[in-house]
Amino acid sequence: MSEAIDGAAVWVVIPAAGAGRRFGAAVPKQYLDLAGRTVLDRVLDLFLGHPAILGCVVALSAEDDWWGDSAHCDDPRVQRAPGGAERCDSVASALARLGAQAATTDWVLVHDAARPCLRRTDLDRLLAALVDEPVGALLAVPVHDTVKQAAAAAAGPITRVATTVPRQLLWRAYTPQAFRLGLLRRALAAAAAAGLAVTDDASAVELLGLQPRLIEGQADNLKITRPEDLPLAQFFLTQQGRLC
Ligand code: C5P
Repeated sequence: MSEAIDGAAVWVVIPAAGAGRRFGAAVPKQYLDLAGRTVLDRVLDLFLGHPAILGCVVALSAEDDWWGDSAHCDDPRVQRAPGGAERCDSVASALARLGAQAATTDWVLVHDAARPCLRRTDLDRLLAALVDEPVGALLAVPVHDTVKQAAAAAAGPITRVATTVPRQLLWRAYTPQAFRLGLLRRALAAAAAAGLAVTDDASAVELLGLQPRLIEGQADNLKITRPEDLPLAQFFLTQQGRLC
């Protein structure tokens, strides 16, 4: 039996139905080889090795030809759900799958399949923050660069600055993002009904007027997006002592 938080079980949802077009490889980025193991398997390794996690739901595309080769495809703690057109649709689909077996008060950690460098210490910090937390929480990193907002797209190739955005209150939203199952399902359904394809789970909860808690995480929890991110992820895993 896994360790619950205040009596609530903890589940993980992994949206893994993206095509990874910005990466441009023959396989979606979650199935790229990262030092002898796929990106997605490395993500699952961390969660399935954690005593707090009761089970995972992985949202997969109908065109997915690779899951059957996963080291975790036969693990009874890992279930599948059909992916959707956008990330938020894939998450909603996985939550619907969980709805049949989990309580609405259970915690769900949503984590991008393309973030294989999540540290156990960051995961533990997020889980610790959920005790007595009324809304939910997400890993995030304060912005240290000066941030420019571009002028509305003009004709031609030149992009110009419209304004400089004060960075003092800006954070980059990472994953996992943790919310109660019932709240997150309600939030995503409301966003969808409003025609909003939110790009993270906290955004949907914010639209309900709630304020998720920001938990500062490590910046090496990168989302593999472009080809240069893959060697960077390997470097981070080596630095963390997770590769032999
Ligand atoms: O495209 P992006 O990098 O923002 O995707 C973040 C995560 O959402 C990835 O793990 C990707 O596989 C997943 N995703 C999904 N369904 C989609 C689009 C993206 O599960 N329709």
